[in-house]
Amino acid sequence: METSVQNPKEAAGRRAAELIEDGMRVGLGTGSTVYYTLARLAERIEEEGLALRCVPTSLDTEAKAQELGIPLQALDDVEQIDLTIDGADEIDGDFNMTKGGGGALLREKVVAYISKREAIVVTRPKLVERLGTTFLLPVEVAPFARPVVAREIRRIGADPILRQREPGISFVTDNENEILDCKFPDGIADPAAMERELDAIPGVVETGLFIGLAHVVVIGDEDGTVEVREKKS
Ligand code: A5P
Repeated sequence: METSVQNPKEAAGRRAAELIEDGMRVGLGTGSTVYYTLARLAERIEEEGLALRCVPTSLDTEAKAQELGIPLQALDDVEQIDLTIDGADEIDGDFNMTKGGGGALLREKVVAYISKREAIVVTRPKLVERLGTTFLLPVEVAPFARPVVAREIRRIGADPILRQREPGISFVTDNENEILDCKFPDGIADPAAMERELDAIPGVVETGLFIGLAHVVVIGDEDGTVEVREKKS
């Protein structure tokens, strides 16, 4: 689909906002691509008077949505979400993903888990053959357990790097945890098995591996065109 937009993130983000229908419960992802979805959604709310209930996946998205006048709802009041639109750091041919570049992986995964459909907005370089080859895998850890988790991750064969806000100061997530960005020398051959292995380490709060959670991918290209791919069932 041709758009007048040249920025691939903007093209994908805006196109995905068209998937939202009146009356939906909507999950609002996090990141610079989803930002354009929020902006377009705000326009649609204004122009079409859409009645929506939206759940943000981070404090950052919550603040941006509030600024844009998008109506928000707490998770307590929403049992199921009709459609979530989120970004990703990498997505493979099975629509498995690495996420958490912005540190919002835990809330993003909770919202994805209760979503009937999840649409992912990306630029084309994020499509990969194998996860973990172009991006470090974020693993959210309870600060107390960090040394134990880091040792176990090394035992698995990856190199965990503590994410820092600035030199010497840990990055802290919305849930008061830390992030180990993990480098896999040859990428992640079996993402589902790796998720299970990491989840089994005490102190791991969540991993950035999103397995079987995405249904649609909206891909923005440099010339402003957008490709929408549905997952094959
Ligand atoms: C937030 O923690 C992430 O999962 C983002 O959704 C992901 O990093 C994509 O962000 P961008 O669209 O900014 O690349």
